[in-house]
Amino acid sequence: VQSTGGNQTGKFGHSYGYGFLHEDINNSGDGGIYAELIQNRAFQYSRAFPVSTAHYFPINGASLTINNGTDPLSKALPASMKVFVGNSTAGKVGFENEGYWGMDVKTHKYTGSFWVRGHYKGHFTASLQSNLTDEVFGSVEVKSKAKAEKWIEHTFELTPEKNAPNSNNTFAITFDPKGTKGGSLDFNLISLFPPTYKNRKNGLRVDIAEALAEMNPHFLRFPGGNMLEGLENSTYWDWKDTLGPLKERPGFQGVWGYQQTHGLGMMEYLEWAEDMDLQIVIGVWAGLALNGDVTPKEDLQPFIDDALNEIEFIRGSADTEWGAKRAALGHPEPFELNYVEIGNEDWLAGFPGGWDSYKEYRFIMFHDAIKAKYPEIQVIGSSATSDPADEGATTGPNLENGIKYPADVIGDYHPYREPDELVEEFDRFDNDIGHIIGEVAATHVNGATPPRWDGPLYKYPWWIGAVGEAVSLIGYERNSDRIPGTFYAPVLKNENRFQWPITLIQFTADAAQTTRAVTWYCWSLFAHHPISHTLPTSSNSSYGPVYWGAGIDEARNGALVWKGAVYNTTDNASVPITVRFEGIKAGAKAQLTYLTNSVGDPYAYNDPRTGIQIVDTTTKELIAGANGAFEFSLPQLSVAVLDTEVA
Ligand code: AHR
Repeated sequence: VQSTGGNQTGKFGHSYGYGFLHEDINNSGDGGIYAELIQNRAFQYSRAFPVSTAHYFPINGASLTINNGTDPLSKALPASMKVFVGNSTAGKVGFENEGYWGMDVKTHKYTGSFWVRGHYKGHFTASLQSNLTDEVFGSVEVKSKAKAEKWIEHTFELTPEKNAPNSNNTFAITFDPKGTKGGSLDFNLISLFPPTYKNRKNGLRVDIAEALAEMNPHFLRFPGGNMLEGLENSTYWDWKDTLGPLKERPGFQGVWGYQQTHGLGMMEYLEWAEDMDLQIVIGVWAGLALNGDVTPKEDLQPFIDDALNEIEFIRGSADTEWGAKRAALGHPEPFELNYVEIGNEDWLAGFPGGWDSYKEYRFIMFHDAIKAKYPEIQVIGSSATSDPADEGATTGPNLENGIKYPADVIGDYHPYREPDELVEEFDRFDNDIGHIIGEVAATHVNGATPPRWDGPLYKYPWWIGAVGEAVSLIGYERNSDRIPGTFYAPVLKNENRFQWPITLIQFTADAAQTTRAVTWYCWSLFAHHPISHTLPTSSNSSYGPVYWGAGIDEARNGALVWKGAVYNTTDNASVPITVRFEGIKAGAKAQLTYLTNSVGDPYAYNDPRTGIQIVDTTTKELIAGANGAFEFSLPQLSVAVLDTEVA
């Protein structure tokens, strides 16, 4: 392999980006990266998910019912939980919450709050305790300020005296029935947070956020995915519902089988990006829902205005109407926003008027309005592929779905594939228009029967899947003059909620079980060796079984980078490789890092249940030989980076 020198300057003004899509699937938001510990904290509901006292259990003879409608805490939170004290004469009564399949209890500070309505003189006890033995790990007395006919917030801090041995724990609030009048108290918005990532109020769970940050990502795409679209036009993810105090957030009829709290809202996403130094790609709702609802042309303008307001909220100065609202929420400085995607997967909307309406008016109207106000924003079309240079004709597998984009638009390609197919797509973008790869993952094993979506996804990201995926990542990166970045999706999974098993990180309530999948290691390796420009390459052999690309990173004093993957050698043998970068002389150093599978089984994976980890990382310092060449060999099914910046 030999670089011939020269740069292809990317047009995006940043190094090639590895990132991820986040939407609330697999309890990746509520019960996931959003650090709230209480499940069903505000008795939110929607047509698909009726209100209930689920996840709460009575203590000492109390009974729990829903009070739906009379004198609510807020318009956004119309339901609350009525706790009847019952006939108990001895001890405190109350309720406990089981969290999202348990709670991690450690000797750090928890911050909690709850709202009460009803007469109560005395103290509430807030405690973290074992669900198995009732052992109390920590508790705090909270003096009642409660009054009849009025909702009053109570806040507290709680630091357990000891770590719980496992996450089978609950959070309880109890009170003395003798101090009540009327036999019941109403509770709502019961909230408990452990310390959060970068100490943000209403913030992110530390272990999950750190696992993401350690991957060195560049991009966060949000809020979906299907979540953006909503199950029906009246219930899309409306960013305005996610702003401000939690008691003003109504919650959302999630599209992945559960009610969502809206706790992880627009500001929280933006702060997440800020805290991890991520570029964002926002998806704006574009008049189409998953059930086939399509907004007619004459009704679309309010949603276009809404998208413009959303953009202004994010990046407008505090002098603008929506920038001022952001400033009022504590962030006067605008956030950076360079990428806006119109809708999600509209090209897949095969129902009547779906994709057609996108091409005929929905995309055009949004695009033109955004570009008129923000010409510098990169507008992304939610189409798989198209070639504006060819009058709307397309290349690639979605020929029939072509759209004639304005020349400044890039598309969004979502290959969920078998690893062989990802490898076949290595050169997929060599002659195509720009795209983000807004979602990608190896999801199904090669030759799966039944094929693809007729059968299940594989259990966890697995090694040959990860290597096939890495080949495609190199294919995208070597076209980074037109592709700004690649996004893994979906990124997180709570092991107790099954929607989509293939994710970068899996977790339970117990932080010790948080697991980086095999793919995390490949993405992390590539992301830790960024390039600002691709380099042309030439070779005396063709692609396969070795696939490669090369680049230079100006931000690291012109470090030269070669990325490669070995996929399916004929005899399982290692492959000898020589890399020569133009300008590199004999005696120069480079660092080779490569990943292999320690158990030899291409179907092996990192298992959050057993803790078994199968990725081996090998790092070597190489010295260039007489002609400035680095010589090494890579094993079958390996993923590698050679970087002239030596750690
Ligand atoms: O990532 C899971 C889903 O796959 C996304 O919500 C959707 O965009 C895609 O079809």
